[in-house]
Amino acid sequence: MIKAKIAVLVSGGGTNLQALIDAERAGKIKSGEIVLVVSNSKTAYALERAKNGGIESLCLTKKDCGGQEAFEQELIEALDTRGIDLVILAGFMSILSEAFTVHYPKRIINIHPALIPSFCGKGYYGLKVHEAALQYGVKVTGATVHYVNEIPDGGEIILQKAVNIRPGDTPEVLQRRVMEQAEWKLLPRAAELVCRRLVKEKGKTI
Ligand code: GAR
Repeated sequence: MIKAKIAVLVSGGGTNLQALIDAERAGKIKSGEIVLVVSNSKTAYALERAKNGGIESLCLTKKDCGGQEAFEQELIEALDTRGIDLVILAGFMSILSEAFTVHYPKRIINIHPALIPSFCGKGYYGLKVHEAALQYGVKVTGATVHYVNEIPDGGEIILQKAVNIRPGDTPEVLQRRVMEQAEWKLLPRAAELVCRRLVKEKGKTI
């Protein structure tokens, strides 16, 4: 059985990475396998999750690489030497430049904790997204998985799921509900959908 090779890019806690690892173990991601985790933070707990899952991991920081351009070059090299087919941004808190995104057309996906086009783009990440949603007073928010292009959070939408906001929600409470009800389900589902397409396109049979 030939599978698409997945790299997951992370920066923090890695609960979405965990959802992907668990889904693969449970046979819900049949067309892909996670072969690499890359963190741009040395202290990311996601690195522990990769280790516990027996997945190769790397830490690449802009500082150690000597800037954005060199960071992206090293990242491309790490991905290409391993024959990565799909890059999944799972709580990856750094914007990738066009020089990087053009390298993997329709082969990078991202999970965003809101219903795009609301509360997205530059400056909207992590808890800030939920703070903005509560501040605005929307009654429904959610999560979106989309392809990544040169526009932050601007690529084609793959899956979305709505989540209700409840009276008294704090950003932390809302973040947790969006993760539980939407993100941890959507991301593995989208990963399988995209891997299935990539495997087919390559003319591989599963
Ligand atoms: C998740 O809510 C993810 O959607 C969000 O950061 C959190 C990471 O949590 N990503 C963004 O805001 C990207 N713009 P995790 O490390 O536990 O998966």
